[in-house]
Amino acid sequence: MRKVVVLASGNGSLLQALIDAPERGNQYEIVAVVSDKPKCFAIERARQAGITEIAISFQKSQDNQWQQHLKDTVLGFNPDLVVSAGFMRIIRSDLFEVVPTINSHPSLLPNFPGAHAVADALAAGVEKTGATVHFIDAGVDSGKILAQQSVPVYPNDSVQSLHERIKMVERIQLTQVVVKLCLQEDIWAGLH
Ligand code: GAR
Repeated sequence: MRKVVVLASGNGSLLQALIDAPERGNQYEIVAVVSDKPKCFAIERARQAGITEIAISFQKSQDNQWQQHLKDTVLGFNPDLVVSAGFMRIIRSDLFEVVPTINSHPSLLPNFPGAHAVADALAAGVEKTGATVHFIDAGVDSGKILAQQSVPVYPNDSVQSLHERIKMVERIQLTQVVVKLCLQEDIWAGLH
């Protein structure tokens, strides 16, 4: 069984999908949830599921130390895979070179990278946006794409309604990618 560390910052509904997937406990074990926000609901979801949770409060003035602390904490669990599921920080260490690290992003990358992907898509007036799972690399939402699905934008959509429609796709897509990678003999193989 593969060991997975999940990174999350907010509500944690993607984390919940990974917790609830029937494959958990079979293909993968979530060995820890690590967050930059001690009070986020993702931490509470981990607690309720009996999963080890660790919050490392982000301090802008100490970004380098924070990055190192995050890396050391994650590696301390000896994971096979790291999953960024609503983690709103850029990983600036080389963590993703040591352990395969993937991210779910709420747009059809390479369109609308960054922290405001849903609002940016809405402001651009596109007819469709979507959800992407990709390997994390040194750029911002620029790593190799593993899966992508489009989601329609409706004329009366708000950022919230559109984001919720995207997240419904993300929850399924991210779980499928995690299971697929965990079944691979070499998780890195997905990167080549
Ligand atoms: C998801 O839409 C995820 O793609 C996004 O945050 C949301 C988390 O939802 N992540 C990013 O935008 C990262 N750039 P959740 O807290 O309900 O799981």
